[in-house]
Amino acid sequence: MDIKKIKEQSFGKLDEIKNLNELERFRIKYLGRKGIITAILRSLKDLSIKEKKYIGRAANLLKEKLEEAMKEKIKKISAQDEVRQERQNDRIDITAPGIKLPQGHLHPITQVLRQVEEIFQSMGFKIIEGPDIETEYYNFDALNIPDEHPARDAWDTFWLKTKPEKLLRTHTSPMQIRYMEENNPPLRIIVPGRVFRYEATDSSHSHTFYQIEGLMVDKNLPTGRQGVNVANFKAVIEEFFNRLFSKDIKARLRPGYFPFTEPSFEVDIKGGRFKKWLEIMGAGMVHPNVFKAAGYNPANWQGFAFGLGLDRIAMMKYGIDDIRLFYKGDLRFLNQF
Ligand code: DAH
Repeated sequence: MDIKKIKEQSFGKLDEIKNLNELERFRIKYLGRKGIITAILRSLKDLSIKEKKYIGRAANLLKEKLEEAMKEKIKKISAQDEVRQERQNDRIDITAPGIKLPQGHLHPITQVLRQVEEIFQSMGFKIIEGPDIETEYYNFDALNIPDEHPARDAWDTFWLKTKPEKLLRTHTSPMQIRYMEENNPPLRIIVPGRVFRYEATDSSHSHTFYQIEGLMVDKNLPTGRQGVNVANFKAVIEEFFNRLFSKDIKARLRPGYFPFTEPSFEVDIKGGRFKKWLEIMGAGMVHPNVFKAAGYNPANWQGFAFGLGLDRIAMMKYGIDDIRLFYKGDLRFLNQF
């Protein structure tokens, strides 16, 4: 056969080769012991000197070229194999079992808040929220705590360098005014939220904590019987603690002082796992000046208000002895709830 033809044919075939098996078969066909080119080289001895020289050189050259091309081919094939292997490795096994993601949960304060909200909601209280940054007017003046009055000392305040000067609310009580300004009685609301005190921290004090304000207002009945009275407050708050802690909790009211209520009470509870009277919250009948500040006529309306520390409640519920734990974000603590 004509060497030129063999050359064309072999290079053509080599081009189409896709794997090492095919390549090996190709090698055997052309360069193996019984291969086409090997046969030509073996037959040289039967040729004339002139032909020997001419054909010999051409056949040897082709042999060399083919060997070189085969080496290249091997490189190419193994590079392709590598890519294929990589793709294989990257393939997603949709039947493999999934990886379980760690799931978080609500902060203990939030968990207790949800329970508190549910109990009050079931007694017809709406849940209202208010701003953390307050004006002096809503935080103090409108609540019957005028400037220069010593009662202000009861609330160590973070003042902000704003103009006009604002503050971080020291209690949730300002929302009594804000809500009454915008809504007509009768009303029942609770206002949960963060409050701030410029105080040194210890196991029972934090500069930031949560309060729940309560307010219930209804008509002052013309018969002289009051629409919303102290007995109503006591019933509501006992029902609340019974539902939150256990069935047999009693509330006790002691005289107290708050500028925005008259009379004012300190409320203690006892019962269930609380063997001794525990001071738990402040409350009272809404002061006429507070109604006036909100635009209600105090002759027509009567109501009770209360302020409850949510952190304290959560600490009692879970037996936590340091309020600061709530605000550290330490997972060893949080994961226990
Ligand atoms: N605002 C009071 C405080 O932060 C708590 C309080 C007491 C709220 C009596 C009330 C109330 O509504 O009637 O210390």
